[in-house]
Amino acid sequence: MKKLIVFASGSGSNAENLVRYFEAGKQARVVAIFCNNPTAGVLQRAEKLGIPAYVFNKEDWKTGNFIDEKVASLQPDLIILAGFLWLFPTRLLHLYPNRVLNIHPALLPKYGGKGMYGDHVHRAVLNSNETNHGVTVHLVNEHFDEGEILKQESFEIQTGDTLDVIVAKIHAIEFDIYPKAIEEYLKTIV
Ligand code: GRF
Repeated sequence: MKKLIVFASGSGSNAENLVRYFEAGKQARVVAIFCNNPTAGVLQRAEKLGIPAYVFNKEDWKTGNFIDEKVASLQPDLIILAGFLWLFPTRLLHLYPNRVLNIHPALLPKYGGKGMYGDHVHRAVLNSNETNHGVTVHLVNEHFDEGEILKQESFEIQTGDTLDVIVAKIHAIEFDIYPKAIEEYLKTIV
């Protein structure tokens, strides 16, 4: 059984989806959720799901204090970012090379980078009159949203699609492709 740990900063709907998806199978389990925001919805979800959650602050993140040790003790096969807003540190990337995945709500390499998260992304896409939008799962490197792309899925934006409609479409795609992309990637690692 492979072990996944999830880092999230917000509502955590993707984190919950991953917990439920992998609980239904035999390949992997989400064994812990890490969160940088003590008021994030993901913490209530973790409690409800019975998954241990660890909250940390900027200082912990910078120094690795407590986090690195906790992560190491869990021996994760993969680290999964699901709506995690802080840059993932080089220190941890070196400890887990090619073992950190992220999901981004746009068709990278477009609409990525610092500050491009949540509604900022979708507004930028709508304001640019793009015909397509979508989701990318990628490996994480030292830069926001720039690692190797593992999976993408797009949809055509319909005339009159509001921000809410777009967000709902994106989430539906995320719930579908993130667990699958993780499952596929797990098969490629020893
Ligand atoms: C998702 O759209 C994900 O792609 C992005 O942040 C959002 C997180 O949503 N990285 P949630 O917290 O999983 O509900």
